[in-house]
Amino acid sequence: STTPESLAGEFSFVVVSNRLPVDRITDADGNPSFRTSPGGLVTALEPVMREADGAWIGWTGSADDEADPFEHDGIHLIPVGLSAEEIELYYEGFSNDTLWPLYHDVIAPPAYHREWWESYVQVNRRFADRAALVTAEGGTVWVQDYQLQLVPQMLREQRPDLTIGFFNHIPFPAYGIYSQLPWRTQIIKGLLGADVIGFQRTADAGNFSRAVRRLLGHQTKGTVIDVPVTDEEAGSAKHRISSVKVSAVKGAEAGAQKLVRTVVAKAFPISIDAARYEELARRPDIQARAKEIREGLGNPAVVMLGVDRLDYTKGIGHRLKAFGELLADGKLDVEDVTLVQVASPSRERVRTYQMLRDDIELTVGRLNGDYSTISHQAISYLHHGYPREEMVALYLAADIMLVTALRDGMNLVAKEYVASRFDNDGVLVLSEFAGASDELRTALRVNPHDIEGLKEAIMQAKTMPKAERSRRMRALRKRVQEYDVARWSTSFLTALATPSDGLVLPKAN
Ligand code: F6P
Repeated sequence: STTPESLAGEFSFVVVSNRLPVDRITDADGNPSFRTSPGGLVTALEPVMREADGAWIGWTGSADDEADPFEHDGIHLIPVGLSAEEIELYYEGFSNDTLWPLYHDVIAPPAYHREWWESYVQVNRRFADRAALVTAEGGTVWVQDYQLQLVPQMLREQRPDLTIGFFNHIPFPAYGIYSQLPWRTQIIKGLLGADVIGFQRTADAGNFSRAVRRLLGHQTKGTVIDVPVTDEEAGSAKHRISSVKVSAVKGAEAGAQKLVRTVVAKAFPISIDAARYEELARRPDIQARAKEIREGLGNPAVVMLGVDRLDYTKGIGHRLKAFGELLADGKLDVEDVTLVQVASPSRERVRTYQMLRDDIELTVGRLNGDYSTISHQAISYLHHGYPREEMVALYLAADIMLVTALRDGMNLVAKEYVASRFDNDGVLVLSEFAGASDELRTALRVNPHDIEGLKEAIMQAKTMPKAERSRRMRALRKRVQEYDVARWSTSFLTALATPSDGLVLPKAN
């Protein structure tokens, strides 16, 4: 069988992310099957990897699963094992109970535990070692997301010949928040091991550059950061030698020069395979399913939809509050309006998520108890994940899509809804705190903390004339079709392949 060692130096393009795109599940009879992993990262990277003949390194989603590399859907997958303890400390702890709330503007309080950090370092090293093993001489490694921020520097130390990219799928917080992190300097140094560091929004890239200036004092010019290197490092850098320049460093003696490596930190807003969503939406069976969904809901005049991982960053509670008040005010009536809320299970062993679930389900239960009738539910609440086909049917069935995140890196659900609406109908209500709001300018943009404003937006969506719906949706669709995921990965990988401007090679004396 294939072992990681048998793939040493095999791949010139390697993606590293916490999760693989699929979990391999083996039933009692030993038959394997696959389950798609949750979240936007997988949605975005899967089509990219299917095009590129590279390898994808990640965790399988279960404990102590030392599976051998395997192939799925034309992608080479190389599993990295995590023990039950590492899942608790590195994944549930440091990644999702320290970094996640910290990077999402402390909507929930981050917990800081030294054992969690130690496990984070240890697991990051394992991912870095695996990438160092399988990547070919002079190859490119693209590291993904907040779970693996130390990997770029760990990899660079072992393999200075590689070109290293990093993309952060979630927000990067303002320095006043980031500076809480006891390991703030280590994380920044870890990221600076990359040649290009990508963020969702320009504001995220700005927050990062500011943290670099404040913590390390490096000079930044626009999107370029000068990272000082030692002569030894410069000497050992093989392929990346071209990105080493000589430049005057502020504060240095007149005429003194220092070797720096240039790192680019810049926004590359992620997207989806828009054509694929449209293709699904045009399928007669999926359209029939959309019709069936509406019938199942009692054919209400207006179907509203929310689709989220069950996460406190998504503003599900704010959405329910606005919806509930509109029912209470008599502005909405369950006889003609219903809200479908898909809340897919996520990080269920983390306490904050358990509390959120209790909270949301209590609210849904109360609202349904107060307002549902025998024939019409106020809220159809679904605590499940669904295949893409079913999601597209839901998008087609929904007159109004509610994306009310309190903070969100991008929010690909907003883009999926738009990409599916080839009929140029439907209204997107979109939080200005989601990265997607920078691009989707003709959505009804809201501040979800402003419940009155949110209620007004919902009413505006409900009464919006067809011509206006269509005008707005056309503009949204144009954006999502042009700026699709292929364009995202191409622009990132092009930046990675192009050494930043103003390079001067060191002169031999
Ligand atoms: O980008 C946020 C993220 O953590 C991704 O890495 C992943 O796509 C998604 O959320 C799902 O989270 P998890 O892997 O913790 O289930």
